[in-house]
Amino acid sequence: MESLDAILSDVIEHIRPGNAERAAVKALTESIIEELNTRAASMGINAHAISVGSTARDTWLSGEADIDIFIMFPADTPEHELKTEGLLLAKSVSSSYEERYASHPYIHAHFRYGGMEYGVDLVPCFAVKDATSLKSAVDRTPFHNEYVRERLPGLEDEVRLLKQFLRCLGIYGSEQRRKGFSGYLCELLILKYRSFIALLRHAANWRYGERIDIEGHGQYSGDDPLIVIDPVDPSRNVAAAVSPYSFCRLIDAAREFLARPARSFFMPKEAKPLSESEFHRILRDRGTYFIIIRFEAPDVVDDILFPQLRKAEASIRRLIERNDFVVYRSDVTVDGGSALLVFELLVWQLPCIKKHLGPPVTLRRHAERFKAMHSPPFLIEDCRYVVEVKRSYTDVKSLLKNELRSCNLGRHLSKVVQAGYEVLEPEELRITPGISSFLRNYFGNS
Ligand code: CTP
Ligand code: MN
Repeated sequence: MESLDAILSDVIEHIRPGNAERAAVKALTESIIEELNTRAASMGINAHAISVGSTARDTWLSGEADIDIFIMFPADTPEHELKTEGLLLAKSVSSSYEERYASHPYIHAHFRYGGMEYGVDLVPCFAVKDATSLKSAVDRTPFHNEYVRERLPGLEDEVRLLKQFLRCLGIYGSEQRRKGFSGYLCELLILKYRSFIALLRHAANWRYGERIDIEGHGQYSGDDPLIVIDPVDPSRNVAAAVSPYSFCRLIDAAREFLARPARSFFMPKEAKPLSESEFHRILRDRGTYFIIIRFEAPDVVDDILFPQLRKAEASIRRLIERNDFVVYRSDVTVDGGSALLVFELLVWQLPCIKKHLGPPVTLRRHAERFKAMHSPPFLIEDCRYVVEVKRSYTDVKSLLKNELRSCNLGRHLSKVVQAGYEVLEPEELRITPGISSFLRNYFGNS
């Protein structure tokens, strides 16, 4: 077996940006900042730009540079002014961009530099006096930046190892779609444990509710699997987005890697496409049945869309189970503008009879009322009346075709589902590359 050190130093060579990339990122960042500041002055806008995020902290992965630039307005700037002037300023320096919304609007611009394309986020924020008196959710970021920049030097490659490790596990990034570990969280974990390997050794023994409080000032209590108190804001859990799945995935991978270190942990898995015939063979072998609900994904950002899809999934699952069918597993995905909710079923067809439970025979008044309302035969089971009624739906497909709109689907999804949706059986599902890799992951052989 290859030595751990050899593996790690080899991986670092691959993920650490080289001098040319480093120089390009630095020069491009500086030129955008200078341009923003010059324009602000000439447009009479009271704001200045700073570099934040992984490119400011030297923790980005080679080839993955996304440049984060914050445009700081005085804290007493009216909100609408920050928004209009911030976006105006950002657009004035970008030739190709789109407007995006996180908790508040920002510009995602594309810059070409030295033959490479870079994504640059230009985010207006309030220059508040400390991270606990924020006016918008992004106002903490400059404080994160300062905190990490002062303490991290020397540990950057450890952060890169952690990011790459998590990325290959599919749990890097705090977006709702992924619910994994954010870049800032990676930096804090390395600040706490001082190395990638030390972090893994601790993670291998983590318990649900693991609490890390570097500054010892936490005022957060919640039922999250991992709690990492924000050093710049005692009331915030930096790991709030980490799902129980992501938490356990890291614990398991930490144990596996420590037991059998290998380069493959750091190599992105190339999901073999899953062909239609393979999909059907897997279903045949499992003996389960799939039903897929497909509709047009509403035009909202993933961070809003995914929580709604998860809620819809739970609500539809309850509808299915209320009707006595049995869901084995379910999942959601978005593919080329379509939202898909996938239900794998143990029971998808039922006979048309159904027991309807009546009152105990000994409760005379209730018994009489029950018998007046229903028709014979009146069976008696466990001292209660039972009548047989006809079930409304004997197969899951017709249930979903008829009743889906009665589910609580949330504001955005209700609207698109009212407009139309399809209920597909496995044979009707066209396996696109996106669906293929989704199904690969679903079946656990990613
Ligand atoms: N941020 C945050 N919480 C999030 C996402 C972002 O506090 N859920 C802040 C952090 O201070 C972060 C900065 O916004 O450093 C930029 O975010 P992002 O680009 O997503 O992360 P990076 O740290 O830059 O990591 P990378 O780009 O390498 O993935
Ligand atoms: Mn970034």
